[in-house]
Parts: sequence; structure tokens; C-alpha cells
Amino acid sequence: MSDVLVLAIESSCDETACAVVKNGREVLSNVIYTQIALHTQYGGVVPEIASRKHIEKINQVITAALKEADVSLTDIDAIAVTYGPGLVGALLVGVSEAKAISFATGIPLIGVHHIEGHISANYIENKELEPPFVCLVASGGHSHLVVVKDYGEYEIIGRTRDDAAGEAFDKVARAIGLGYPGGPKIDKLAKEGNPDAILFPRAKVAENEYDFSFSGLKSAVLNYINGCAMKGIEVNKADVAASFQKAVIDVLVEHSLHGVKEYGMNKFAIAGGVASNSSLRAAFEEQCRARGIEFYHPSPVYCTDNAAMIGVAGYYEFIKGNRSGLDLNAVPNLKLGER
Ligand code: KG4
Ligand code: ZN
Repeated sequence: MSDVLVLAIESSCDETACAVVKNGREVLSNVIYTQIALHTQYGGVVPEIASRKHIEKINQVITAALKEADVSLTDIDAIAVTYGPGLVGALLVGVSEAKAISFATGIPLIGVHHIEGHISANYIENKELEPPFVCLVASGGHSHLVVVKDYGEYEIIGRTRDDAAGEAFDKVARAIGLGYPGGPKIDKLAKEGNPDAILFPRAKVAENEYDFSFSGLKSAVLNYINGCAMKGIEVNKADVAASFQKAVIDVLVEHSLHGVKEYGMNKFAIAGGVASNSSLRAAFEEQCRARGIEFYHPSPVYCTDNAAMIGVAGYYEFIKGNRSGLDLNAVPNLKLGER
């Protein structure tokens, strides 16, 4: 088979991104315009501003991705685009753009699930990784424990009951005055703190041993901060960050590796923005080594939202023969495994 080049577009949240991916594993370009600075002043992503910025930037980002890959649209075999889940207005920009290019050029269109993209990011730098394996997807919007049975075939065995892991990082960061996005800031500050200084709760969900719940932990952190304020005690922010982070990591590690064992797997991967957390990686590395499990993770640039991961997922859909019509629409609450 000749080479397959996929042009991928991602605009589900606050990054306007475009990439060119060759044969599902080789990234020829990966251009990301991040809107973070724009949203920081509001303490989180403002959907309407995100949509407008996507419209402003998307053509520039696509042009840059083609140029960096040193290809033109005539070389492209498929256009992959995130069509959900995400912010509807933001998703619509990418979907409309991809449909317009497909309509104008006749290049096949492939709608990609955002989480499938995050999982597929692992294929970029781990050329030997193939399904089946278990993957923890921990991002700002999702905490999913997924059995990847085959390319494009997923079984979600655990999910969050309330806040996603990244959301908890963001909310706790705001409470201790670190600003948005909180994950990287807590990651950094935690290095200066004692993870055993404060014992925060590790929630279990009675009905499903793989499910996550982080809202109780978030409340415990807020109560601790309020309690200190009432007693006139100054909060040690680094200790709060380290202790909170440890509580999140303990639960993610325990649930995930229990799933790996119960499903009889020997490979485990992480994905999503939270997967770039340095302590999380270290904990998984250590625990996987101790249990004889192969551990995989993408580089930070492929953990947070990017289009290369969408190009990888799009490639595997493409070679299976999956195509989307020009009636492809943005689906803000798209479930994994639906098409
Ligand atoms: O995957 P992503 O870029 O967007 C979504 O699909 O949600 O994830 C963003 C989330 C944010 O909540 C951010 O705080 C978190 O990932 N994050 C981190 C780190 N880097 C990003 N959380 C913990 N530690 C980090 N180093
Ligand atoms: Zn994401």
C-alpha cells in the first residue's frame, strides 16, 4: 500500500490545531495555536471567545501545518476532524472547515472522537504499541479507564461520577490562587511540598470499582483551606498541592492497575492533559515495573489537545474504510465507540 497522508483538525476546546500524519504513526507537522492566555483572565475557557478565536486562526493553522509538512492538499488522502465531545461552537469551526475542504477537493472526510484521539497519541512515539491494552484517559473533561480491544474498538470500564481529574486540578489550583490552567501549576508547586502533610480522602465508588469520584476530594481541600483561614493559620500551598496531587494519583494508579490485572493485560497507557503530570508518570512507571506491566505514555505535547493524535486515530478509521458524509455534525456529548 502506498503512503497514506492524513490532514487532521482539532478545535474541541481552546486549542486550534492542525497536523499532517503519515501512515498513522509519523507526524510530519503538528501546529497548535493555544488560546490559554486569552482565557486565563476569566479563570477558565469562555466558549464564545473560543469559537471566535478558532474562526480567526483555523486557516492560518492549516496553512502552517501543510507548509511545515512540505505537502499540499493534493497530496492528502483523508481529512480527519474532531466532531465530539467538546464545546459545540468550538467543534463546529473544525467540522465546518473540514467539510468545506472535503467538498471542494473531494478528499474523504473522517469524523474522529476526541478521546479516541487522546488514546491514539500513544501510537506516535511507541511504534511497537498495538492493542489490546488498557488506557487511562485523564483530561480536563474526562477520566475514563478504557480497554482498547483493537484499533477503534473500546470498552469503557471506569468513568468519573462527577469532576474529571483535570477539572479537580483546575479547581484546587484556583482555590489556592494559582490560576488557570491549574494542572501544570500544581505539578510544579507540589515538588516543593510534602505529599503526606495532609491526609485527603481517596474516594471509592461502591457500584463500580473502576469508577472515579473527585468532587469529595475537591471539597475536602476547600474545607481544609477554609478551616485554616478561620483558625488564622497560614496555608502551606505547596503542601496542599502535593497532598492533593498524591490523593488523585493514588486513586488513578490503584483503579487503573486493578483493571489491567482483572482484564488480563500486560500493557498500560495513559493519555490526556493530566497524563503529562510528572508525579503521575513516576508513580505509574514505578508501579508498572513492580508488576511486570509495560507502561506507555505520550510526550507532553501529545498529551494536551493537539491534531496529530486526531490524525493517528483518523488513519486507523481510514484503513478500516470508515468515512463520514458531508452531513457530519458536531456532537458535544459524543460517546466513545459511537459513530
Ligand atoms: O486533554 P486536555 O488538554 O483537554 C481536554 O480534553 O480536557 O486536558 C487539559 C487538562 C486541564 O485540566 C489541565 O489542568 C490538565 O489537563 N493538565 C494537567 C497537567 N497538564 C495539564 N494536570 C496535571 N498535571 C499536569 N502537568
Ligand atoms: Zn482533550
